[in-house]
Amino acid sequence: LDNGLMRTPPMGWMSWERFHCNIDCENDPKNCISENLFRGMADRLAEDGWKEMGYDHVMIDDCWSSMLRDKDGRLQPDPQRFPGGIAKLARYLHNRGLKLGIYGDLGTHTCGGYPGTTLDKIETDAQMFASWGVDFLKLDGCYSNEEEQQKGYPLMSKALNATGRPIGYSCSWPAYRGGLLPSVNYTLLGEICNLWRNYDDIQDSWDSVQEITDWFFDNQEILQPGRWNDPDMVCPLSPVYMDQSRSQMALWAIMAAPLIMSNNLRTLTLSLDHGLYTKFTVYSPFLCLYVTLFFLQKRSHIEVYWRPLSQSASALVFLSRRQDMPYHYHTSLAKLNYTAGSYKAYDVFTGKTLSGLSATTEFTVSIDPSGVVMWYSFPLSTTEWQCRQRSTTT
Ligand code: GLA
Repeated sequence: LDNGLMRTPPMGWMSWERFHCNIDCENDPKNCISENLFRGMADRLAEDGWKEMGYDHVMIDDCWSSMLRDKDGRLQPDPQRFPGGIAKLARYLHNRGLKLGIYGDLGTHTCGGYPGTTLDKIETDAQMFASWGVDFLKLDGCYSNEEEQQKGYPLMSKALNATGRPIGYSCSWPAYRGGLLPSVNYTLLGEICNLWRNYDDIQDSWDSVQEITDWFFDNQEILQPGRWNDPDMVCPLSPVYMDQSRSQMALWAIMAAPLIMSNNLRTLTLSLDHGLYTKFTVYSPFLCLYVTLFFLQKRSHIEVYWRPLSQSASALVFLSRRQDMPYHYHTSLAKLNYTAGSYKAYDVFTGKTLSGLSATTEFTVSIDPSGVVMWYSFPLSTTEWQCRQRSTTT
């Protein structure tokens, strides 16, 4: 969608995976879906260095609204949980240099049972979101049929555009049509949406991360390159699962996925988690990416993912699906289809650089069970690898 937004995959924080539809503010005031939760997360993004790393969206998911529309048929936030209203919350975020995302659903109800956006309500809701100062809309697709989706997703795109306010637009449409051809028209999606959910909801487990990864790599030929296929939120687990968290980040990065965290930013161990996320903002593969094909090699439950970047740079992820011990994987860049020449490789997680690597040099990487090694490699002939900074175009 050429609305000038999200030229690189969006980054930020979203409530769903971690907080779901917890509306029990009486017993769980700190974690219920309320303006306090989003203000609190905004504070963390702004004050703990996340914003500078690119995590600049705070996205409200389902269960924010009142059970009923107002007397004029407009959506309204739950008055107990959002007493200040959405416009005030948007101002709070904007004052901190952040953007506000909201959730809607094309259909009679949201997946959580709140008022949905039927075809006749699309313009009203788009106008409402714009008047509140919302910067992003996730439009889910529960309780609508194929025909309604066929009409509704393009209509909302037009309605958002007509508000005159730049609003990023995420369409869950393909996820409701199985994500595959011919039911999904990825060309059309690229024209009307900035990003889209293709597949099932992520859950906070290694199984879920692996299942989603498999789906995206198995179906990579049909996915629309250069616009954002969204494999869903990143939900890094506790430090106990650091290897699996790193794996998710590395895989999402090499897929050029949106990096939308769903975690409790108030209880992270910053020294650990900053390390986990920073790697992908300073050296993010997608930042300068212009080709989006990747390949996969499988041997001994080790998988190698590769993606070409601009300026002849490329990203490599070595993933272990093993459960026994660190695996020593022997290979060379030539065996991974690199052309002859000298290369430098930067190891994302250790921060070490390997130079003097010719395509035929044999090397060994040690990959932890359910862990990754991630490299950026670039030919020595490129004197300066220029694609390090996140583009500031918004
Ligand atoms: C669907 C979506 C999720 C989330 C919930 C909210 O399951 O796929 O991402 O938005 O609805 O109810």
